Amino acid sequence: MTARVMTARPGSSSAPILQVSGLSKRFGARCLLHDIDLRVDAGERVMLLGESGSGKSTLLNLIAGLECPDEGRISIDGEPVDASSPDRSARLRREKLGFVFQAYHLLPHLDATQNVAVPLLLLQVSPTLARERARAMLARVGLSKREHAMPATLSGGEQQRVALARALVHEPVLLLADEPTGNLDPRNAARALSLMLDQVARTHAALLMVTHSEAAAASGDRSLRLALDDELGASLVAGSTDPTS
Ligand SMILES: Nc1ncnc2c1ncn2[C@@H]1O[C@H](COP(=O)(O)OP(=O)(O)O)[C@@H](O)[C@H]1O
Ligand SMILES: [Mg+2]
Repeated sequence: MTARVMTARPGSSSAPILQVSGLSKRFGARCLLHDIDLRVDAGERVMLLGESGSGKSTLLNLIAGLECPDEGRISIDGEPVDASSPDRSARLRREKLGFVFQAYHLLPHLDATQNVAVPLLLLQVSPTLARERARAMLARVGLSKREHAMPATLSGGEQQRVALARALVHEPVLLLADEPTGNLDPRNAARALSLMLDQVARTHAALLMVTHSEAAAASGDRSLRLALDDELGASLVAGSTDPTS
């Protein structure tokens, strides 16, 4: 096991885990995101709200280096995100990020345990230890009985929990979660949420989580909303106020 996986970050650092400045993104003629500034510090859990189509998933993809911004800068744990360099952004994702995708994106040819073990194997953790840690994380999301199940045989909610276990297993410094409880029943949603919130606090990591649930949003340290502007593009505003009110 590498130190990166085992060791909690020191909580004393005042440098931001995530820093986004002046970020803008256009798709063709449409400006989707306009001049986004965002800072998330160690230990902070930030909830991201916004109507469907306001650009929440795009913002997470930009932060993860999966999309190129038109303007602006992003850094994670002091390292610039450069989506134009696939190798560099893949390494940054591997070393710093956990990402619960809205559409899960499990590897279809690997079983639940193997899917969860992938981030550890990419960090050179031994296969035996990676498997052990993956099984322990599956137990924490309530899926011990589904360890050997292939993704296609899992329900949407079970796939979502495997995706969550995979995003948490290597204790990333930044957790990006795109509606991670959207397909879960209330009990499993509450369990998944507290698992994320607790791990991020314990490891002094940072969480940026997209949610439509006002209750989930209230459980974070603060919430932000992507406010739609059809001409300018969405910008970030503080709080969870309903933009239609
Ligand atoms: N690669 C793309 N090319 C063109 N339009 C896109 C692309 N990705 C997203 N969009 C558009 O950007 C808008 C915001 O999408 P998204 O970020 O998924 O919103 P949200 O997650 O807030 O629902 C949508 O209208 C979507 O169709
Ligand atoms: Mg989305």
